[in-house]
Amino acid sequence: MDKFLIRGGLPLKGKIEIGGAKNSALPCLAAALLTPETVTLHNVPYVKDLITQRRLLEDLGATVLTPELRTHKITAKGVDVYEAPYELVKTMRASVLALGPLLARFGQAKVSLPGGCAIGTRPIDLHLRAFEQLGAEVLLERGDVVARAPKGRLKGNVIDFEKVTVTGTENVMMAAALADGRTVIKNAAMEPEIDDLANLLNKMGARIRGAGTDTIEIDGVEALGGAEHTIISDRIETGTFMVAAAITGGELEIKSCVPEHLTAVIAKLRDSGVVVEEINPSTLLVRQGGSGLRACNVTTEPHPQFPTDMQAQYMALMTQADGESKIVETIFENRFMHAAEMIRMGADIHISGNTATVRGKTKLMGAPLLASDLRASASLVLAALCAEGETLIDRVYHIDRGYETIVRKLRSLGADIERIKTSVEETVAEPVAV
Ligand code: UD1
Repeated sequence: MDKFLIRGGLPLKGKIEIGGAKNSALPCLAAALLTPETVTLHNVPYVKDLITQRRLLEDLGATVLTPELRTHKITAKGVDVYEAPYELVKTMRASVLALGPLLARFGQAKVSLPGGCAIGTRPIDLHLRAFEQLGAEVLLERGDVVARAPKGRLKGNVIDFEKVTVTGTENVMMAAALADGRTVIKNAAMEPEIDDLANLLNKMGARIRGAGTDTIEIDGVEALGGAEHTIISDRIETGTFMVAAAITGGELEIKSCVPEHLTAVIAKLRDSGVVVEEINPSTLLVRQGGSGLRACNVTTEPHPQFPTDMQAQYMALMTQADGESKIVETIFENRFMHAAEMIRMGADIHISGNTATVRGKTKLMGAPLLASDLRASASLVLAALCAEGETLIDRVYHIDRGYETIVRKLRSLGADIERIKTSVEETVAEPVAV
């Protein structure tokens, strides 16, 4: 397994370009299954999860061409398999996003039930209940979810999610786009990625209103067609580089981002003493303020509140802030695995239930570390960048799932980081997903 060797203590300086949003590209690729015509997606990030999603589409019988590195032309005309096998689902939970489109277009789908992962049990019961409410029969057979629309087509209904679910909202939106009649999704997720997917679906001929609010209305249509769409920029990659600027005492110009997708993160960083200037609608200038970092409490919540996908990176920042901060994780039950690694570097962190108490500022010392999930890996890279001495982070395949050329990007900003490749024999595929 590859490792990162980081020698900390250097302030990051320069300009950085943010890539397309992984969590938007994943459902948008799945949406191409809804039509036999070609869907062209631009700004698809070149990360492992997207390579996996592409493989899933190809296994189902779709053709995927990449005329340019970040452009995918997907034609799901020859789809003749309706199932996502365990081998793919175990490496990436987002493969459950194939369920809605397959069920809606072909009236049948089989997707392996994802198991738990490093950050919690992560069931998909809300997706499945919603499909049933749209008229599907859903069974569990030997670890697979088998869903069928008895009359070949789903029927619109009111879906009132008892909990906000991002991929659940996306799955239902895609399924309802081809259903008979109107579907209303209540308590819908409001993440920018939902809005992006709805924009693509509407370009394909869907009739979706209200995406980005907590109530989405979808009038089902008989068929969807091809479309061309550019994926929005990745707000979590943006937030990660914002923390990188602040934690290393450097200054970064972060380009091709959408600050309005990061309102809660920007507000929290400003409260913590980080200077964030919006130079233009797609560029942020970020640096640590003159009086250093201040401890500030944070609670993760669904968008537009502070995202759980920035919690680990914020924890790294709080180890460098003066005072005591409480970080409350309300989305996933087991998302503090990075804390134990930071403690090994010298951080003062106590976990009690879903609350982490961080006392700072502590001097971090380089150490051998183990990455446990995607965002945890990012937080360990951040901690290592401000630590004294060398840090060796193992299992960085997690970070490759969601951050494009992270080593090259950090090196271009002055970081001392290198990837240490290990032999193929040592590589073990593990069931992990975020
Ligand atoms: C998505 C994001 C992930 C992010 C998360 C929360 C993608 C590909 N991934 O994951 O990066 O961390 O949103 O913002 O977009 N739940 C259930 N039953 C369900 C579905 C969810 O109990 O059927 C629970 C989950 O266990 C979790 C909460 O609902 O506690 C929110 O999860 P959800 O929004 O569904 O996360 P994902 O869509 O998997």
